[in-house]
Amino acid sequence: MDRDLFQQEHGIIGKSLEMQEIVDVVRQVAPTDITVLITGESGVGKEVIARALHAASKRSKKQLVTVNCGAIPEGLIESELFGHEKGSFTSAVDNRKGYFEIADGSSIFLDEIGETPLATQVKLLRVLESGEFMRVGSSSTRKSDVRVIAATNKDLQYEVQQKHFRPDLYFRLRSVNIVIPPLRNRREDIPPLVEHFVKDFTTRNRIQFEGFTDDATELMMSYRWPGNVRELKNVIESMLVLKNGRRLTADDVRENLKEYQGPVVDRNLPVIANKTVEQAERELIYRALVELKGSILELRDVVMQGIPAQHQAKFASVDRSNGNGASTLQEMERKMVIGALNRHKGNRRLAAKELEISERTLYRKIKEFGLQE
Ligand SMILES: Nc1ncnc2c1ncn2[C@@H]1O[C@H](COP(=O)(O)OP(=O)(O)OP(=O)(O)O)[C@@H](O)[C@H]1O
Ligand SMILES: [Mg+2]
Repeated sequence: MDRDLFQQEHGIIGKSLEMQEIVDVVRQVAPTDITVLITGESGVGKEVIARALHAASKRSKKQLVTVNCGAIPEGLIESELFGHEKGSFTSAVDNRKGYFEIADGSSIFLDEIGETPLATQVKLLRVLESGEFMRVGSSSTRKSDVRVIAATNKDLQYEVQQKHFRPDLYFRLRSVNIVIPPLRNRREDIPPLVEHFVKDFTTRNRIQFEGFTDDATELMMSYRWPGNVRELKNVIESMLVLKNGRRLTADDVRENLKEYQGPVVDRNLPVIANKTVEQAERELIYRALVELKGSILELRDVVMQGIPAQHQAKFASVDRSNGNGASTLQEMERKMVIGALNRHKGNRRLAAKELEISERTLYRKIKEFGLQE
């Protein structure tokens, strides 16, 4: 089966070289029993790939068993994974199979494997190496024929350094490691993803869609997408619902983007991984300011609703376009642009890369801030 057909069959959208390589690895390893570790930021499509690995394997007749290792309370995780014998702990009122037993003959997807407690990791290693495990409260060894697919958005190597993750399990898991890059590093995938989500949502909900304005498309192409494909999908769906299919502008997009509103609470900060501390700090401060500004504007809107029109002028200075908040923020942005350009001796490609914006956006900012030589 060729790559396009395979992607179609498994609902994997994306034309970037990165995605093509990933799909090729999936096609190659899916039919084998090799353990696969899928890594990448939240929302990049780890589960999509895990499902494809199972669906394209000879185990696909049986259901994939998915376990979210981060969602099970620590005290229960071993009983959930390996089962328990009646009476082995207070709530164990009868014998129970664990996920590894249930998944016999199929595949098991260990999601958020980085969250597994150290004590359980030893047992996972054993089952990975020999297929053997023991139910909690039992002393007899059982065997299960399971193919393991694991995923995490944590940097496991770092977790190993921090002694939160066993190195032997890490090496066993990463025999095949599929790394899914964040969406901002494979922007060619944005248009086909947008098209796919639009088509899917408008057909399901019978919406007539007028399309995007050019600046809306441009914003979607240059935005950082901290929530990756999941954020893109949510944004598209919210906009289509809110505007009921009317033409979508850059403002519509902006109103729905994480970084322009509400607190961004990232459980992990994978963004920091490839950056210097200074760069990361700068970005965090910048993001905090953007969020703060968003909150102030929201507050203003609430306050404005409750006061008579003749007094509203007092609050007009806190404005979206030219208020105090905005000028500070703009100044901050201007400094970041100048700083990046200086650090890279005016090289726009490198400066844009550091700022994680497209060259086109940087060009626009240079013009906007009057920085042209
Ligand atoms: N390449 C892709 N093609 C089609 N849909 C995708 C693709 N990548 C992601 N999606 C969609 O984006 C959403 C998030 O994907 P998924 O749940 O696989 O991400 P994840 O990496 O497992 O995220 P998390 O780390 O938060 O669990 C899903 O709705 C999924 O269908
Ligand atoms: Mg997931």
